[in-house]
Amino acid sequence: MSDDATAARAAAADAAADANADETGDVDARTGGPALEVEDLRKSFAGLVAVDGATFSVEQGSLTGLIGPNGAGKSTTFNCITGVHDVDGGTVRFFGEDVTGLRTNRVAERGLVRTFQIARELEEMTVLENLMLAPGDQRGETLAQAVLPGFRDAVRDRERALREEVWETLELFEIDHLADEQAGNLSGGQRKLLELSRALLTDPDMLLLDEPFAGVNPTLEEKLLDRIHALQRERGLTFLLVEHDMDLIMNHCEHVIVMHQGQVLAEGPPEAVRDDEQVIDAYLGEEI
Ligand SMILES: Nc1ncnc2c1ncn2[C@@H]1O[C@H](COP(=O)(O)OP(=O)(O)O)[C@@H](O)[C@H]1O
Ligand SMILES: [Mg+2]
Repeated sequence: MSDDATAARAAAADAAADANADETGDVDARTGGPALEVEDLRKSFAGLVAVDGATFSVEQGSLTGLIGPNGAGKSTTFNCITGVHDVDGGTVRFFGEDVTGLRTNRVAERGLVRTFQIARELEEMTVLENLMLAPGDQRGETLAQAVLPGFRDAVRDRERALREEVWETLELFEIDHLADEQAGNLSGGQRKLLELSRALLTDPDMLLLDEPFAGVNPTLEEKLLDRIHALQRERGLTFLLVEHDMDLIMNHCEHVIVMHQGQVLAEGPPEAVRDDEQVIDAYLGEEI
């Protein structure tokens, strides 16, 4: 499909979702049931089947692991869920709402956020500037607001609150000493931390993390995992985590989904999945 056609389809999906939201009123109503439901998801690249009918769900407030050998389709699944790729088939529901085919920013507005590599144009900005920009439209001002009395004070207050939140985040991720550094000069691990910080500052309900700890030192990794658990407990955030380190998955996830050749091979509590014959076979030649 051409880019134009893809964009048109995404726009149509967005419009349909908006109409639906108007009808049903509060789209943020968070009742019981899973946070994320993926059903029969399909995605091919020029004949290569990357995701082949994957079906799974992620419980609200859980830290769920998504594992599988290299090339299993984990990243493609994330990209399909968050509108980076157009899907070939299947549905994605977020808190019961169909978000299949929506564009990334529309999915993010609904509270489903994935981390993104720092874009080229952001590499020339400082770490602090990257984070001040992170919340994007959600904190943007409209022209109408701009002419209202008291607007300047409101903006100043909001700037101050945002700046405080950003500094707290910088300290939490131990990158406060890099605040004035250009993002483009960061090491791989530092970049990962900036990406995670940016995602958290959008105030998501669910975060999709694709190997977020690559290049991050073990002490900080432990600290970030503590933070993730705190966000689960205190804010009911839901996490879906792609991670190669099996010990980390075993120690931190309540539920594990195993992908293999684009399908869900097994899922369940970590110990059950680890001892599953099919899973062991799938990983043959790789460490588990
Ligand atoms: N943009 C793309 N274009 C073509 N092939 C892709 C693309 N993204 C992923 N693939 C292929 O899809 C399969 C699944 O890849 P991926 O989802 O990255 O697996 P994982 O994240 O589990 O390692 C692989 O064979 C990979 O080469
Ligand atoms: Mg991957």
